[in-house]
Amino acid sequence: MIPSVAKKLFEDVRGRVLDAGCGTGRTFAYYPPKAEVTGIDLSPAMLARAEKRRAKRGLSVPLLEMDICRTSFGDNPFDAGIASFLSCILPNDRQLAALIEIKRVLKPGGRVRLLEYTWSKDPIRRRIQKLWEPWVRRVRPGNAPLRARSGLPRCGGNLPLRRHHQPGPGAKIN
Ligand SMILES: C[S@@+](CC[C@H](N)C(=O)[O-])C[C@H]1O[C@@H](n2cnc3c(N)ncnc32)[C@H](O)[C@@H]1O
Repeated sequence: MIPSVAKKLFEDVRGRVLDAGCGTGRTFAYYPPKAEVTGIDLSPAMLARAEKRRAKRGLSVPLLEMDICRTSFGDNPFDAGIASFLSCILPNDRQLAALIEIKRVLKPGGRVRLLEYTWSKDPIRRRIQKLWEPWVRRVRPGNAPLRARSGLPRCGGNLPLRRHHQPGPGAKIN
């Protein structure tokens, strides 16, 4: 994960924060010290690695095994929802459910930041991406992580969503 991008992901988030699909905890280093972050992930194996990383960093982040499409949180406990490289893993038919669930667990005006792969605007980088796309497709059948298919374009009409391309990798759901 590129540190400058990861920093932007957690910039300005406060209060209770959901890290949806926290994986092995690569984002732990960027959690704001004053925020109360909860990490969830569908995979016990990823959570086991995240637990080790949590211990190493001396953090007290709750790590819960949960499906982002159907969490056991009540309505609106979180001030912000972060998901990095989650959408590229989710099957297409679960993209909308995940966004709706993130919105459900956020307080009104809560902030959502989604970090996803996309095609580079730089022609050389884009060419390199194209070269390894077949490999990516093979290891993740059914998904195309290198496409800008975070689900946002398809879900934008169904959620009150604002997209921010600059300065950070974020989107905000009001
Ligand atoms: C590519 S990893 C990204 C992990 C982390 N966010 C990062 O940036 O390093 C995607 C993670 O999403 C998790 N995941 C996939 N489907 C999920 C779901 N329905 N609910 C919660 N987590 C899920 C996977 O287990 C995996 O750990």
